[in-house]
Amino acid sequence: MQIKSCAVIGSGVMGSGIAAHIANAGIPVMLLDIVPQSVKDNGGDRSVVAKTAIEKMLKTDPAPFMHKKAASLVTPGNLEDDLPKLADVDWIVEAIVENPAIKADLYKKLDGVRKAGSVVSSNTSTIPLNILLQGQSERFAADFMITHFFNPPRYMRLLEVVKGEKTRDDAFQAVSAFCDVVLGKGVVRCKDTPGFIANRIGTYFMQAAVNEAIDGGLTVEEADAISGKPMGLPKTGTFGLIDLVGLDLMPLISKSLLSTLPQDDDYRRIYRDNPLAAKMIAEGYTGRKGKGGFYRQTKLPDGKRLREAIDLRTGEYRKSGRASLESANAKGLRALVETKDKGGQYAWRVLSQSLSYAADLVPQIADDVQSVDEAMRLGYNWKFGPFEMIDQLGTGWFAEMLAAEGKPVPHMVKLAAGRSFYRTEGAKLQFLGTDGDYHDVVRPEGVLLLSDVKRGSKPVAKNGSASLWDIGDGVLCLEFTSKMNALDADIMAMIRKSMEIIGDGKSGSFKALVVHNEASNFSVGANLGLALFALNIGLWPQVEQSVADGQQTYKALKYAPFPTVSAPSGMALGGGCEILLHSSAIQAHAELYTGLVEVGVGLLPGWGGCKEMVFRHTINKKRPGGPMPPIATAFEMISTAKVAKSAFEARDMLVLRPADGITFNKDRLLADAKKKALELVAAGYTPPEEVKIRLPGPGARAALENAVEGFAAQGKATPHDVVVSGAVATVLSGGDTDITVEVSEDDLLELERKHFMALVKTKGTIDRIEHMLETGKPLRN
Ligand code: NAI
Repeated sequence: MQIKSCAVIGSGVMGSGIAAHIANAGIPVMLLDIVPQSVKDNGGDRSVVAKTAIEKMLKTDPAPFMHKKAASLVTPGNLEDDLPKLADVDWIVEAIVENPAIKADLYKKLDGVRKAGSVVSSNTSTIPLNILLQGQSERFAADFMITHFFNPPRYMRLLEVVKGEKTRDDAFQAVSAFCDVVLGKGVVRCKDTPGFIANRIGTYFMQAAVNEAIDGGLTVEEADAISGKPMGLPKTGTFGLIDLVGLDLMPLISKSLLSTLPQDDDYRRIYRDNPLAAKMIAEGYTGRKGKGGFYRQTKLPDGKRLREAIDLRTGEYRKSGRASLESANAKGLRALVETKDKGGQYAWRVLSQSLSYAADLVPQIADDVQSVDEAMRLGYNWKFGPFEMIDQLGTGWFAEMLAAEGKPVPHMVKLAAGRSFYRTEGAKLQFLGTDGDYHDVVRPEGVLLLSDVKRGSKPVAKNGSASLWDIGDGVLCLEFTSKMNALDADIMAMIRKSMEIIGDGKSGSFKALVVHNEASNFSVGANLGLALFALNIGLWPQVEQSVADGQQTYKALKYAPFPTVSAPSGMALGGGCEILLHSSAIQAHAELYTGLVEVGVGLLPGWGGCKEMVFRHTINKKRPGGPMPPIATAFEMISTAKVAKSAFEARDMLVLRPADGITFNKDRLLADAKKKALELVAAGYTPPEEVKIRLPGPGARAALENAVEGFAAQGKATPHDVVVSGAVATVLSGGDTDITVEVSEDDLLELERKHFMALVKTKGTIDRIEHMLETGKPLRN
């Protein structure tokens, strides 16, 4: 079966977010909710609940929609008038209140109207599938499964799926594949057990982390300094995370787990009522959404912010301080738990319990250790799953330590008998199965991971900031490896090296280039630290040379005789965005954040970013005529450092062109980019022809500058903004030209260089760069 239309029932936190994400993928979706009693009594819009949910989402930040236009794919309705319309829908997601009786009642109604072969799934976080099916028809059971999204559905990658005994295999496969490929989720198959995988282990971990902080006399800052980054967990740490999700949610999750967990489950042993948290919730201290939580920030009369934390012993707020624990700086998990301070002891006590708990749950909650690790990585943003963590400690060491403390050694750890849960055999990653043997990790069709390629081969070339990999079928992959993937001379050299290796793309081993990496960000732009160093000692010719080198390298990428396909995910800013602008094609992850942000550090895009934006907007047939509108659009984008918050927004900015592709599942990005490159080769790729455009020159520049001065007069632009935008305006309008003259790409590159060099010599720009390097934030000077 193929899923072409969907409906979501329940437009609360989860239902509305799921509907928005289905719409993000371009699939029409109905969003239905109840008709409120007040409307029944007094009249009014009967679909008000769903409509309000959609309006609210259009104002939410971070945005549930990847593009405002996606909202038009969500059709609001209500469960009384619009139920018959469900007859046209392939997949119905139920996301209503967590109450089995109310859900059961709804399922009966759905079953009366839905078409044969359609699938119904529940987003329940706690109710087992067999309970949800009580009293339902055989036909319903065959078409029913659980799809458990995480909040917020657009951003959290994990989707836990549960198949019932009677669920049709083709229905289960179709929904799983749709969620993986179309919605981009990391689909993890779970067994029908309480809390499935991630919440079961995550809740246990948090309970252990809170208990041990109290028992060990740690402050919340100390506990968070350990149960965050050093463990490879989100940097909020445990108390910070509870503040984020809401203190009031925790007792609800615990209660539901306690009502369904097996009697001998270890969570029952460590569970405790928490009088302090109960008091905080009662008084409205529910975390960030309430008056504050374990931490709170208040604004003082002088405008400064006061950060406070709860004293776990007294329950009173006190000024928050930095935790100074040697263990917080430990390198690696083993060093962390072996550090002899209270942080190290805390880490051991929390990890020994929670990793043991997780290790005892296979195969009860999932078929294999991999599923458990993936669920924790994607659902709780852990860098490593529990079995990967045990590997870091050493399975043998872990078992010995537990035994020495008189604690039971989990079944899976005994089975490992000193071997690791994961190993590399030849080029293959393998995991230890519940049968005690190793099995290959098999990636689904259409998934290609650079990390797998790297595990099985040596780089074709490598330097301090970049590598080239053979990803098969004649495609070479350029990977950035510098800190935050900042661009430097080594990366430029490696781009040139890739051109040398590929040559004409016909006579050698390679025929196309893909630019891709698996870091959270594709590239944050040029390495400012190096730039500042050169500027401080007045190495002007070298700085100008590096601008010129970048321009020539990027231009060569654009006009290479073979296809160059960029496959970015996360941030592609400044020079990172300019790489995209100079690729033959882009295959972008839907979660792409890109823009030319150079003005934030007092610069203008100098590696062809200005040039590409003017050319693209001028050539774009969709814009109204005349030379001014395209320049004004490019100017607004560059002078306000506009960043697209999705690949769809990047399309509006013309960073992506109509033929460029968008991939929802990050794990499928490289394969899709490689496919695109090979398609271009097969179609007889030839590089674009260089064109010339006409630009209006000084008149246009004056108009743009006037506008900026207007903003300055209103206090919306700073004095140095005026200087920087003046330079941007000069470049974009073509310098000293007029509309009768044709301008080439090289003419604009020369202008970029000239005005870039003028800006780097100003104090305002140097101050901005220094400030950015020190604080990570732009200086408004
Ligand atoms: P919510 O309280 O935000 O929304 C529930 C929706 O159900 C509301 O729009 C409400 O109008 C509707 N509703 C209430 N009574 C109804 C009835 N008789 N018939 C039809 N609709 C009715 O709840 P939330 O958080 O969105 O949860 C929905 C489901 O998703 C639950 O099963 C929950 O366990 C699950 N879930 C929640 C997560 C979260 O973080 N909030 C995460 C993952 C799953």
